[in-house]
Amino acid sequence: MIRELVRTTRTVRRFQEQRALDPVVLRECIDCARLGGSARNAQTLKYMLVTEAGQRQALFPLLGWAGYLADWPGPAPGERPPAYAVCLLDKGLVRGAESEVYCDLGIATQNLLLAAAEQGVFGCRIGAFSSQAVQRLLQIDDGYEALLIIALGYPAETVSLQEVGPDGDIRYWRDEQGGHHVPKRALAALLLNPPAL
Ligand SMILES: Cc1cc2nc3c(=O)[nH]c(=O)nc-3n(C[C@H](O)[C@H](O)[C@H](O)COP(=O)(O)O)c2cc1C
Repeated sequence: MIRELVRTTRTVRRFQEQRALDPVVLRECIDCARLGGSARNAQTLKYMLVTEAGQRQALFPLLGWAGYLADWPGPAPGERPPAYAVCLLDKGLVRGAESEVYCDLGIATQNLLLAAAEQGVFGCRIGAFSSQAVQRLLQIDDGYEALLIIALGYPAETVSLQEVGPDGDIRYWRDEQGGHHVPKRALAALLLNPPAL
């Protein structure tokens, strides 16, 4: 069911690091990203997979994790992602406004994460990094721009949704057992003209 898949496709930041991802699964995820809608059908996005241990180790400190969890420095050794997908803009293919690229990026990465979740693999989009530093590390040339990095792996944490409370606080939080909670605004709060049922 699409609703159940959408509901359970949550951001996960702690992984079973030793459990490598099957290259077939990774390929399938990128293939689903590829099939998303694209403004002007320009299809400006390209991908680079990072699975090799040395590269992962070097990439990890360049990434910002969970800004709302102030006391948490990110996943510890053993719970770091076994794979990353670096989403790249191929600058030579851009036709329209920059905003179109980000629209495409949202569609593509949601397809990617839905395909992953169907296989029991979850991920975290990471926008908090310096594209220059990442591109230097991965030897990606200036014809591309790293826009977003998706950490991927089998989960080592549970994530649940809750409704945003009356205080309007949208910050995710962790309970004492380490469970991660993500507040979502209620449907009634964002559907401005609900159809009569
Ligand atoms: C464009 C974008 C950038 C994000 N960047 C980061 C990031 O740099 N670090 C991080 O830990 N999470 C990042 N996230 C994950 C969000 O924090 C997460 O989507 C949000 O808390 C809601 O949780 P959910 O994905 O389970 O609904 C990003 C998400 C999006 C869509």
